[in-house]
Amino acid sequence: MPTRAKENDIRIKIEKLSAEIEKHNHQYYVLDKPIISDFEYDKLFRQLQELEAAYPQHKLRNSPTDRVGGAALEKFTKHKHLVPMLSLNNAYSVEEFREFDQRIKRILHVQPDETIEYWCELKFDGLSMSVTYENGELNIAATRGDGTIGENVTQNIKTIRTLPFKLKGAHVPKLIEVRGEVMLSHENFKKLNAAREGAGEELFANPRNAAAGSIRQLDPNITASRPLTVFLYGLGAYEPGEKSQRITTQAQLAEQLREWGFLVSDHYCLCKGTAEVEKFYEKVLAQREKLPFDIDGIVVKVNSFRLQEELGFVARAPRSMVAFKYPARQEMSTVQDIVVQVGRTGALTPVAILKPVQVGGVTVTRVTLHNPQEIARKDVRIGDKVVVQRAGDVIPEIVKVVEEHRPPTAKPYHFPTQCPSCGKKVRHDPDEAVPRCVNPHCEAQVKERIAHFGSKDAMDIVGLGYKIVEYLVDERLIQDPSGLYHLKPDQLLSLEGFKEKSVNNLLSAIEASKSRPLPRVIFALGVRHVGETLAKVLANSFHSLETLSKAKEEELLEVNEIGPEVAKSIAEWFSEPANQKLIRELRKAGVQAHEAPRPAGGGKLRGKTVVVTGTLPSLKRSEAHALIESHGGTVGSSVTKSTSFVVVGEDAGSKLEKAKSLGIETLEEAQFLEMIGHKP
Ligand code: IVH
Repeated sequence: MPTRAKENDIRIKIEKLSAEIEKHNHQYYVLDKPIISDFEYDKLFRQLQELEAAYPQHKLRNSPTDRVGGAALEKFTKHKHLVPMLSLNNAYSVEEFREFDQRIKRILHVQPDETIEYWCELKFDGLSMSVTYENGELNIAATRGDGTIGENVTQNIKTIRTLPFKLKGAHVPKLIEVRGEVMLSHENFKKLNAAREGAGEELFANPRNAAAGSIRQLDPNITASRPLTVFLYGLGAYEPGEKSQRITTQAQLAEQLREWGFLVSDHYCLCKGTAEVEKFYEKVLAQREKLPFDIDGIVVKVNSFRLQEELGFVARAPRSMVAFKYPARQEMSTVQDIVVQVGRTGALTPVAILKPVQVGGVTVTRVTLHNPQEIARKDVRIGDKVVVQRAGDVIPEIVKVVEEHRPPTAKPYHFPTQCPSCGKKVRHDPDEAVPRCVNPHCEAQVKERIAHFGSKDAMDIVGLGYKIVEYLVDERLIQDPSGLYHLKPDQLLSLEGFKEKSVNNLLSAIEASKSRPLPRVIFALGVRHVGETLAKVLANSFHSLETLSKAKEEELLEVNEIGPEVAKSIAEWFSEPANQKLIRELRKAGVQAHEAPRPAGGGKLRGKTVVVTGTLPSLKRSEAHALIESHGGTVGSSVTKSTSFVVVGEDAGSKLEKAKSLGIETLEEAQFLEMIGHKP
């Protein structure tokens, strides 16, 4: 039995490790100056995870391990901001900006030719956020909402590594609300959309939507998988602590935020008068394309807080600040046609074909119209003149139709009721944005599915490009991915540009793909909503294609990362006879889909499959699972004959019944902890 002294040691160890990891988070994510290797960092992180799993009672409220996610919420609770989150007035031209300056001078009784000191910074195009710290500890993070009441998204915000859990330095306040913007970089936005495309999911239109969508996730594990960041720039409520200094200017605030450990942009300027502001505006505009994230202007703030107070507010905006906006990168073009693309999961996406136009240095010829509602909302017709925009470095979009220029010949678009590829009737589920072709034999889908199967992150069949897939399907050489494994050299020799060598290369690439591990095979199947990450989770939970294919919706729901919609999609896919046949055929062809070897090691639960059900008195579900795995056991998602025992908590439902009916041993938490030699 651990003595009190040992308990104390463990608590101190956990505190020390947590602080050390947070220090490295700051070094790496905020300062961009890591002082240890990723390997060493991972080691510390794992050490903490293991300690927390073994001694959950000592886990800190703001533990660095919270940054990887946690249990999903039912819904967000409301949070009332201590000081309301206001908005900004805009200036769309130099003239409007100068009017702002003149107005301020009038109110402050400053002569028109005197200069006001302005603090200028970037206007981040993201999602605004308020984070409260009490006695230096992160307490609550909330979205703006209506400015007065927002949503409590603390769990999600805690996954953002640039946000400190504890304020640093000597000037820690009693209470503070800091204000900032959650952002996703262009690079990460592109990666996220590529992954969503891989999983057959709808794409985000721009980084701001992606950031907002990520923060409004009920499941923090999803938020954790999105590399968000948050730039801080403002103050809400502020109650200084004993040693805090008074903050009297914007410049000082920026410096103080940095000292506390927040990420503050390096693009700022303390300007005397309008001319210097205008220079900064131009300078940032010239750099805009090169910035890693979206901005839509600069924000100009009267530097002195005393003057800010004197200036007060109009409606919901401070008179002392203005958003000096940049023109959006927009151009005009003509819609030459609207076509419909059929995706791998049958989703029909309308695409506008444009007269080629340069927008911000890129030639745009195709623009997604997302779905029929979007076409109706914007009333886009074939022949219309439209305004095209690229927000940041990303996907172009149609902002609006220029109705004054609509030619009389412009044709309203009628979304096809039949699939443009196979001609079968299209289904439009009222809960879904896009109509779908539900014919599993639809050629367009078949081609997309086979191409996905062979793609780099799936079975990685080098050389199997879309053109080849198209040929193979058109020539009726294959009908599904399993057909690849029966291809003969002479069938490929008639392909344009194919010689003996290229044929052999492709065939050996196909052969090599038979040994891809289970997660890749699951991903390659192209089940809707099953991206690479979820495929790994499924592989870890079900261990073989066969078990996965027999999993009931309820069993899938047992997996932490899976919600109802995804569980349904997976169960439906595997219940489809054609898909069952596909799996049998892949097996027959020699696709192994082996599990990655489990890390070797002993442990009291070696060889045992343990199911946890109900609410345990002290352990969270995830902690119980971590304990099982750290002692060499396997976490079972449902009670079956091969379950070794079930750990039962309060409100245990059908699984307890099932265990009883199968005569499987059940343990309470305390007994379980005793079994693995862990005593409170
Ligand atoms: S200060 C009184 N500074 O722009 C509001 N806001 O259009 C004080 N924003 O709601 C906001 N970058 O979400 C401020 N450097 C910056 C900003 C910024 C982006 C957002 C913020 C605000 C919105 C108003």
